[in-house]
Amino acid sequence: MKYTIAVIPGDGIGPEVTNQAKKALDAVAEVYDHIFLYEEAQMGSCAIEATGNPLPEKTIEICKKADAILFGAIGDPKYDNDPSLRIRPEQGLLKLRKELDLFCNVNPVKAYDQLIKNSPLKREIIKGTDIVIFRELTSGIYFGKKEVSKDGKNAFDVCSYCEDEISRIAHLAFKAAQGRKKKVTLIDKSNVLETSKLWRKTVTEIAKQYKNVALEHMYADNAAMKLILKPKSFDVVLTDNLFGDIFSDEVSVISGSIGLLSSSSIGNNNALFAPVHGTFSEAKGKDIANPLASILSAAMLLEHLGLLEEADAIERAVEKSLDLNITTEDIKGKNKYAASTSKVGDFIADYILNQEDSNL
Ligand code: IPM
Repeated sequence: MKYTIAVIPGDGIGPEVTNQAKKALDAVAEVYDHIFLYEEAQMGSCAIEATGNPLPEKTIEICKKADAILFGAIGDPKYDNDPSLRIRPEQGLLKLRKELDLFCNVNPVKAYDQLIKNSPLKREIIKGTDIVIFRELTSGIYFGKKEVSKDGKNAFDVCSYCEDEISRIAHLAFKAAQGRKKKVTLIDKSNVLETSKLWRKTVTEIAKQYKNVALEHMYADNAAMKLILKPKSFDVVLTDNLFGDIFSDEVSVISGSIGLLSSSSIGNNNALFAPVHGTFSEAKGKDIANPLASILSAAMLLEHLGLLEEADAIERAVEKSLDLNITTEDIKGKNKYAASTSKVGDFIADYILNQEDSNL
Protein backbone atom coordinates (compact mmCIF):
# COMPACT_ATOMS: atom_id res chain seq x y z
CA MET A 1 0.00 0.00 0.00
CA LYS A 2 1.01 3.59 -0.57
CA TYR A 3 0.83 6.16 2.25
CA THR A 4 1.72 9.83 2.39
CA ILE A 5 3.40 10.88 5.60
CA ALA A 6 3.88 14.55 6.41
CA VAL A 7 7.21 14.91 8.19
CA ILE A 8 7.82 17.96 10.38
CA PRO A 9 11.33 17.60 11.84
CA GLY A 10 11.05 20.94 13.69
CA ASP A 11 13.82 22.31 15.90
CA GLY A 12 16.70 21.19 18.13
CA ILE A 13 17.23 17.43 17.95
CA GLY A 14 13.92 17.05 16.06
CA PRO A 15 15.54 16.54 12.64
CA GLU A 16 18.10 14.02 13.95
CA VAL A 17 15.61 11.79 15.73
CA THR A 18 13.01 12.05 12.98
CA ASN A 19 15.60 10.80 10.50
CA GLN A 20 16.00 7.63 12.57
CA ALA A 21 12.22 7.14 12.62
CA LYS A 22 12.24 7.44 8.82
CA LYS A 23 14.96 4.79 8.65
CA ALA A 24 12.71 2.45 10.63
CA LEU A 25 9.75 3.26 8.37
CA ASP A 26 11.86 2.65 5.26
CA ALA A 27 12.85 -0.75 6.62
CA VAL A 28 9.21 -1.57 7.29
CA ALA A 29 8.30 -0.44 3.77
CA GLU A 30 10.87 -2.82 2.33
CA VAL A 31 9.93 -5.84 4.42
CA TYR A 32 6.16 -5.42 4.16
CA ASP A 33 6.03 -4.06 0.63
CA HIS A 34 4.60 -0.61 1.30
CA ILE A 35 5.43 2.78 -0.13
CA PHE A 36 5.80 5.67 2.31
CA LEU A 37 5.93 9.01 0.55
CA TYR A 38 7.39 11.66 2.83
CA GLU A 39 6.27 15.27 2.42
CA GLU A 40 8.60 17.43 4.47
CA ALA A 41 7.13 20.56 6.08
CA GLN A 42 8.41 23.35 8.33
CA MET A 43 7.14 24.40 11.73
CA GLY A 44 8.66 26.19 14.72
CA SER A 45 11.81 28.21 14.99
CA CYS A 46 13.15 27.00 11.64
CA ALA A 47 9.89 28.11 9.99
CA ILE A 48 10.11 31.55 11.65
CA GLU A 49 13.62 31.96 10.30
CA ALA A 50 12.64 30.86 6.80
CA THR A 51 9.24 32.55 6.49
CA GLY A 52 8.57 34.69 9.55
CA ASN A 53 5.68 32.35 10.41
CA PRO A 54 5.93 29.43 12.90
CA LEU A 55 3.28 27.56 10.91
CA PRO A 56 3.35 28.38 7.21
CA GLU A 57 0.13 27.75 5.23
CA LYS A 58 2.00 25.19 3.14
CA THR A 59 2.62 23.07 6.24
CA ILE A 60 -1.09 23.03 7.10
CA GLU A 61 -1.88 22.05 3.52
CA ILE A 62 0.65 19.20 3.51
CA CYS A 63 -0.60 17.91 6.88
CA LYS A 64 -4.25 18.01 5.87
CA LYS A 65 -3.58 15.91 2.78
CA ALA A 66 -1.31 13.35 4.46
CA ASP A 67 -2.40 9.98 5.86
CA ALA A 68 -0.48 10.77 9.05
CA ILE A 69 2.01 13.30 10.44
CA LEU A 70 5.37 12.53 12.00
CA PHE A 71 6.69 15.38 14.11
CA GLY A 72 10.02 15.93 15.89
CA ALA A 73 10.27 18.77 18.44
CA ILE A 74 9.70 22.50 18.67
CA GLY A 75 11.30 25.46 20.43
CA ASP A 76 14.52 27.43 20.74
CA PRO A 77 16.20 28.82 23.89
CA LYS A 78 16.57 32.15 22.15
CA TYR A 79 12.80 32.66 22.54
CA ASP A 80 12.79 31.49 26.16
CA ASN A 81 15.38 34.05 27.10
CA ASP A 82 13.67 36.96 25.39
CA PRO A 83 10.00 37.22 26.38
CA SER A 84 9.67 40.38 24.28
CA LEU A 85 9.66 38.22 21.14
CA ARG A 86 5.95 37.98 20.40
CA ILE A 87 6.25 35.29 17.74
CA ARG A 88 7.31 32.00 19.32
CA PRO A 89 7.99 28.58 17.76
CA GLU A 90 5.43 26.83 20.02
CA GLN A 91 2.66 28.91 18.46
CA GLY A 92 3.16 26.79 15.34
CA LEU A 93 2.34 23.56 17.14
CA LEU A 94 -0.60 25.05 19.01
CA LYS A 95 -2.03 26.45 15.79
CA LEU A 96 -1.57 23.14 14.00
CA ARG A 97 -3.43 21.32 16.79
CA LYS A 98 -6.29 23.80 16.44
CA GLU A 99 -6.33 23.85 12.62
CA LEU A 100 -6.50 20.05 12.41
CA ASP A 101 -8.65 19.76 15.54
CA LEU A 102 -6.25 17.26 17.12
CA PHE A 103 -8.26 17.18 20.32
CA CYS A 104 -7.05 13.96 21.86
CA ASN A 105 -3.46 13.51 22.99
CA VAL A 106 -2.60 9.95 23.96
CA ASN A 107 0.52 9.39 26.08
CA PRO A 108 1.32 5.78 26.96
CA VAL A 109 3.82 5.15 29.75
CA LYS A 110 5.30 1.75 30.51
CA ALA A 111 8.09 0.70 32.82
CA TYR A 112 10.51 -1.09 30.49
CA ASP A 113 12.12 -3.93 32.47
CA GLN A 114 15.51 -3.18 30.92
CA LEU A 115 15.36 0.42 32.11
CA ILE A 116 13.88 0.13 35.58
CA LYS A 117 17.33 0.72 37.02
CA ASN A 118 17.42 4.11 35.26
CA SER A 119 14.37 5.42 37.04
CA PRO A 120 14.92 7.36 40.26
CA LEU A 121 11.87 5.52 41.61
CA LYS A 122 12.09 2.19 43.42
CA ARG A 123 11.82 -1.00 41.35
CA GLU A 124 8.92 -2.39 43.40
CA ILE A 125 6.94 0.80 42.87
CA ILE A 126 7.25 1.01 39.12
CA LYS A 127 7.67 -2.56 37.84
CA GLY A 128 4.61 -3.46 35.78
CA THR A 129 3.35 0.10 35.39
CA ASP A 130 1.19 0.61 32.33
CA ILE A 131 -0.63 3.96 32.16
CA VAL A 132 -2.08 5.86 29.27
CA ILE A 133 -2.85 9.55 29.64
CA PHE A 134 -5.66 11.04 27.58
CA ARG A 135 -5.02 14.77 27.51
CA GLU A 136 -7.50 17.21 25.96
CA LEU A 137 -5.44 19.18 23.45
CA THR A 138 -7.36 21.93 21.70
CA SER A 139 -9.09 23.87 24.46
CA GLY A 140 -8.76 24.95 28.09
CA ILE A 141 -6.33 27.57 29.31
CA TYR A 142 -4.01 27.05 26.34
CA PHE A 143 -6.61 28.47 23.98
CA GLY A 144 -8.68 30.85 26.14
CA LYS A 145 -8.55 34.63 25.90
CA LYS A 146 -5.21 36.04 27.08
CA GLU A 147 -4.11 39.54 27.76
CA VAL A 148 -1.37 41.60 29.33
CA SER A 149 -2.13 45.11 30.57
CA LYS A 150 -0.42 48.06 28.87
CA ASP A 151 1.93 48.61 31.81
CA GLY A 152 2.81 44.90 31.80
CA LYS A 153 1.83 44.51 35.46
CA ASN A 154 -1.32 42.44 34.96
CA ALA A 155 -2.02 39.40 32.84
CA PHE A 156 -4.70 36.78 32.47
CA ASP A 157 -5.35 33.49 30.66
CA VAL A 158 -8.91 32.27 30.59
CA CYS A 159 -9.63 28.57 31.00
CA SER A 160 -12.88 27.51 29.39
CA TYR A 161 -14.41 24.21 28.32
CA CYS A 162 -17.71 23.21 26.82
CA GLU A 163 -19.47 19.90 27.30
CA ASP A 164 -18.81 18.65 23.76
CA GLU A 165 -15.07 19.19 24.09
CA ILE A 166 -15.07 17.08 27.22
CA SER A 167 -17.37 14.34 26.03
CA ARG A 168 -15.59 13.58 22.76
CA ILE A 169 -12.30 12.80 24.49
CA ALA A 170 -14.04 11.08 27.41
CA HIS A 171 -15.63 8.58 25.02
CA LEU A 172 -12.21 7.79 23.53
CA ALA A 173 -10.74 7.30 27.02
CA PHE A 174 -13.52 4.93 28.09
CA LYS A 175 -13.24 2.95 24.86
CA ALA A 176 -9.51 2.58 25.41
CA ALA A 177 -10.10 1.45 29.01
CA GLN A 178 -12.46 -1.26 27.78
CA GLY A 179 -9.53 -2.88 25.99
CA ARG A 180 -7.24 -2.47 29.00
CA LYS A 181 -7.65 -2.72 32.79
CA LYS A 182 -11.11 -1.13 32.65
CA LYS A 183 -10.45 1.88 34.81
CA VAL A 184 -10.55 5.60 34.04
CA THR A 185 -9.17 8.16 36.50
CA LEU A 186 -10.43 11.66 35.87
CA ILE A 187 -7.93 14.19 37.21
CA ASP A 188 -9.26 17.67 37.92
CA LYS A 189 -9.51 20.44 40.54
CA SER A 190 -13.27 20.33 40.93
CA ASN A 191 -12.96 21.47 44.54
CA VAL A 192 -11.90 24.86 43.14
CA LEU A 193 -12.41 25.29 39.39
CA GLU A 194 -15.69 25.64 37.49
CA THR A 195 -14.26 23.99 34.38
CA SER A 196 -13.24 21.01 36.51
CA LYS A 197 -16.79 20.75 37.87
CA LEU A 198 -18.05 20.58 34.31
CA TRP A 199 -15.50 17.85 33.53
CA ARG A 200 -16.65 15.85 36.55
CA LYS A 201 -20.36 16.19 35.75
CA THR A 202 -19.92 15.37 32.05
CA VAL A 203 -17.57 12.43 32.55
CA THR A 204 -19.70 10.93 35.35
CA GLU A 205 -22.71 10.99 33.01
CA ILE A 206 -20.73 9.38 30.15
CA ALA A 207 -19.40 6.67 32.48
CA LYS A 208 -22.96 5.27 32.72
CA GLN A 209 -22.61 4.12 29.10
CA TYR A 210 -19.51 2.09 29.95
CA LYS A 211 -20.74 -0.14 32.74
CA ASN A 212 -17.71 -2.43 32.64
CA VAL A 213 -15.31 0.48 33.24
CA ALA A 214 -14.74 1.91 36.73
CA LEU A 215 -14.52 5.68 37.00
CA GLU A 216 -12.31 7.14 39.71
CA HIS A 217 -12.07 10.85 40.57
CA MET A 218 -8.88 12.44 41.78
CA TYR A 219 -7.83 16.01 42.51
CA ALA A 220 -4.79 17.11 40.54
CA ASP A 221 -2.62 17.84 43.60
CA ASN A 222 -3.32 14.39 45.04
CA ALA A 223 -2.76 12.81 41.61
CA ALA A 224 0.65 14.45 41.33
CA MET A 225 1.62 12.45 44.40
CA LYS A 226 -0.20 9.19 43.62
CA LEU A 227 1.16 8.89 40.09
CA ILE A 228 4.62 8.58 41.59
CA LEU A 229 3.72 6.73 44.79
CA LYS A 230 1.37 4.14 43.28
CA PRO A 231 1.69 4.27 39.50
CA LYS A 232 0.42 0.70 39.15
CA SER A 233 -2.97 1.72 40.49
CA PHE A 234 -3.64 3.75 37.30
CA ASP A 235 -4.88 2.55 33.95
CA VAL A 236 -6.38 5.30 31.76
CA VAL A 237 -5.94 8.85 33.01
CA LEU A 238 -8.29 11.46 31.57
CA THR A 239 -7.54 15.13 32.07
CA ASP A 240 -7.56 18.63 30.63
CA ASN A 241 -4.94 20.36 28.53
CA LEU A 242 -2.76 21.97 31.22
CA PHE A 243 -2.87 19.13 33.77
CA GLY A 244 -2.18 16.67 30.95
CA ASP A 245 0.89 18.58 29.85
CA ILE A 246 2.31 18.43 33.38
CA PHE A 247 1.38 14.83 34.22
CA SER A 248 2.75 13.39 30.97
CA ASP A 249 6.19 14.77 31.83
CA GLU A 250 5.88 13.68 35.46
CA VAL A 251 5.15 10.05 34.64
CA SER A 252 7.96 9.93 32.11
CA VAL A 253 10.37 9.28 34.99
CA ILE A 254 8.69 5.89 35.42
CA SER A 255 9.88 4.69 32.01
CA GLY A 256 13.48 5.43 32.98
CA SER A 257 13.87 8.10 30.34
CA ILE A 258 11.66 10.63 28.60
CA GLY A 259 13.74 9.64 25.57
CA LEU A 260 11.51 6.61 25.17
CA LEU A 261 8.06 8.12 25.33
CA SER A 262 5.99 8.82 22.29
CA SER A 263 2.53 10.25 21.91
CA SER A 264 -0.23 10.66 19.39
CA SER A 265 -2.52 13.62 18.85
CA ILE A 266 -5.71 12.51 17.22
CA GLY A 267 -8.53 14.37 15.50
CA ASN A 268 -11.42 13.14 13.39
CA ASN A 269 -9.53 13.59 10.11
CA ASN A 270 -5.84 13.81 11.00
CA ALA A 271 -3.34 12.39 13.44
CA LEU A 272 0.12 13.50 14.52
CA PHE A 273 2.79 11.32 16.15
CA ALA A 274 5.71 12.68 18.12
CA PRO A 275 8.14 12.07 20.96
CA VAL A 276 7.08 13.48 24.35
CA HIS A 277 10.51 15.04 24.82
CA GLY A 278 11.38 18.51 23.66
CA THR A 279 14.17 19.98 21.55
CA PHE A 280 17.11 19.20 23.91
CA SER A 281 18.98 22.07 22.24
CA GLU A 282 22.28 21.35 24.01
CA ALA A 283 22.47 18.08 22.08
CA LYS A 284 21.52 19.50 18.70
CA GLY A 285 23.78 18.28 15.89
CA LYS A 286 25.89 16.13 18.21
CA ASP A 287 24.35 12.77 17.24
CA ILE A 288 23.82 11.86 20.91
CA ALA A 289 20.05 12.26 21.39
CA ASN A 290 17.94 9.20 22.07
CA PRO A 291 15.94 8.43 18.90
CA LEU A 292 13.74 5.73 20.47
CA ALA A 293 10.81 8.01 21.31
CA SER A 294 10.69 9.18 17.71
CA ILE A 295 11.06 5.62 16.41
CA LEU A 296 8.27 4.47 18.73
CA SER A 297 6.08 7.31 17.51
CA ALA A 298 6.56 5.89 14.01
CA ALA A 299 5.26 2.60 15.43
CA MET A 300 2.21 4.41 16.82
CA LEU A 301 1.71 5.98 13.41
CA LEU A 302 1.71 2.56 11.74
CA GLU A 303 -0.77 1.26 14.29
CA HIS A 304 -3.02 4.20 13.49
CA LEU A 305 -2.84 3.27 9.81
CA GLY A 306 -3.94 -0.25 10.77
CA LEU A 307 -0.48 -1.72 10.12
CA LEU A 308 -0.28 -3.66 13.37
CA GLU A 309 2.28 -6.26 12.38
CA GLU A 310 4.51 -3.52 11.01
CA ALA A 311 4.20 -1.51 14.24
CA ASP A 312 5.05 -4.61 16.19
CA ALA A 313 8.20 -5.11 14.11
CA ILE A 314 9.44 -1.67 15.18
CA GLU A 315 8.57 -2.30 18.83
CA ARG A 316 10.43 -5.63 18.80
CA ALA A 317 13.48 -3.94 17.31
CA VAL A 318 13.38 -1.29 20.05
CA GLU A 319 13.12 -3.98 22.74
CA LYS A 320 16.11 -5.71 21.17
CA SER A 321 18.20 -2.56 21.19
CA LEU A 322 17.45 -2.24 24.92
CA ASP A 323 18.26 -5.91 25.57
CA LEU A 324 21.58 -5.56 23.79
CA ASN A 325 22.30 -2.16 25.31
CA ILE A 326 22.62 -0.50 21.95
CA THR A 327 21.45 2.74 23.42
CA THR A 328 22.33 6.38 23.71
CA GLU A 329 24.08 8.00 26.66
CA ASP A 330 20.87 8.79 28.60
CA ILE A 331 19.94 5.14 29.13
CA LYS A 332 23.14 3.17 28.76
CA GLY A 333 23.99 0.83 31.62
CA LYS A 334 26.95 1.45 33.89
CA ASN A 335 30.35 1.04 32.23
CA LYS A 336 28.78 0.49 28.83
CA TYR A 337 29.61 2.38 25.67
CA ALA A 338 26.92 4.72 24.44
CA ALA A 339 25.82 4.42 20.84
CA SER A 340 25.17 7.51 18.74
CA THR A 341 21.70 8.57 17.59
CA SER A 342 22.35 7.34 14.08
CA LYS A 343 23.89 4.04 15.28
CA VAL A 344 20.75 3.25 17.26
CA GLY A 345 18.66 4.16 14.20
CA ASP A 346 20.80 1.92 11.97
CA PHE A 347 20.48 -0.97 14.40
CA ILE A 348 16.69 -0.66 14.54
CA ALA A 349 16.41 -0.50 10.75
CA ASP A 350 18.78 -3.46 10.24
CA TYR A 351 16.96 -5.50 12.84
CA ILE A 352 13.62 -4.88 11.12
CA LEU A 353 15.14 -5.84 7.77
CA ASN A 354 16.67 -9.03 9.12
CA GLN A 355 14.20 -9.96 11.86
CA GLU A 356 12.91 -13.07 10.16
CA ASP A 357 16.27 -14.80 10.01
CA SER A 358 18.13 -12.81 12.65
CA ASN A 359 20.09 -14.63 15.31
CA LEU A 360 20.87 -11.44 17.22
C1 IPM B 1 3.81 19.23 24.69
C2 IPM B 1 4.62 20.51 24.82
C3 IPM B 1 3.80 21.66 24.25
C4 IPM B 1 2.60 21.86 25.16
C5 IPM B 1 4.57 22.96 24.02
C6 IPM B 1 5.78 22.75 23.13
C7 IPM B 1 3.70 24.05 23.48
O1 IPM B 1 4.98 20.71 26.14
O2 IPM B 1 3.50 18.86 23.55
O3 IPM B 1 3.47 18.62 25.68
O4 IPM B 1 2.71 22.55 26.18
O5 IPM B 1 1.54 21.34 24.83
